Amino acid sequence: MLRKDLISIKDMTSREITDMFSLADELKKDKNKFSRILFGKTLALIFQKPSNRTRVSFEVGMYQLGGNCVYLGPGEINLGVRESIKDVAKTLSRYVDGIVLRTFAHENVLEMARYASIPVINGLSDFSHPCQALADLYTIREKLKNLTDRLLAYVGDGNNVCHSLLYASAKTGLNMNAATPKGYEPQQKVLREAKEIAKLKKANINLFYDPRKAVKDADVVYTDVWASMGKEDEAAKRKEIFRGFQVNENLIGLAKKNVLIMHCLPAHRGEEITDEVIDGPNSIVFEQAENRLHIQKAILIRLLANAREHR
Ligand code: CP
Ligand code: NVA
Repeated sequence: MLRKDLISIKDMTSREITDMFSLADELKKDKNKFSRILFGKTLALIFQKPSNRTRVSFEVGMYQLGGNCVYLGPGEINLGVRESIKDVAKTLSRYVDGIVLRTFAHENVLEMARYASIPVINGLSDFSHPCQALADLYTIREKLKNLTDRLLAYVGDGNNVCHSLLYASAKTGLNMNAATPKGYEPQQKVLREAKEIAKLKKANINLFYDPRKAVKDADVVYTDVWASMGKEDEAAKRKEIFRGFQVNENLIGLAKKNVLIMHCLPAHRGEEITDEVIDGPNSIVFEQAENRLHIQKAILIRLLANAREHR
């Protein structure tokens, strides 16, 4: 990777994404591969929201590559309250070699990256979740062999995960349908940009308000929680609004016969997805979760190591 940070998939070239996938393949085949490449390097994990997959996969990934992590939870740095983002960025740049930031406002990630002299990785903001979408597309490619001429149907909230999937699909030539209730669409700008990028790859991106239309003939059906972290107070209202957007047996019956079922997790079983579907034979949610580790090790190598020297 030529750039310093991983903030959004929109900033990556298709080639950088494919390169990341190939490196993840090597790392997945042999977990001891490049086991000293980040020796002596430290990654700071600044998390203002809870996490299982992102935190654990980054910590284990650093460990497997010979480096280590410092976890800084919500009460520790107290970003922007105890100390400005600018001062945190400048201070941490003197101690560690990279920062993963999980935060609310996307502007926080941009500000951290602006003032840090070290790589900053977006570990989820209200706007996007690039590490997730890279792992997701890597998983789809692994299962279906190719991404072009395939259709991903995302059903639910037009949120951070949906935004990153739109950019990732567009960059890799995967067709994508998103179905959301009115008023919960992905941002217009993201949709417009993703459509423009997809056109260059001869792929289609479409928005629907009827989930049945979106999943028709889909190779993959993907969903996420209806109320993301930080939106918990809207959960009851959203449960009503999103009722028709549940990924259940009826809905997936409209997709291709061997449709793959994906969810970034954590799942609210019985809400956006039923037990039968998430535990069913077509569900690949835990392979998807596992691939967070492999793809993030690839990201860490590309951003934190002088990769060319070591390969
Ligand atoms: N999918 C995901 O990012 O999971 P966590 O919130 O547990 O990190
Ligand atoms: N959209 C969810 C994703 C969690 C990984 C959230 O932001 O809470």
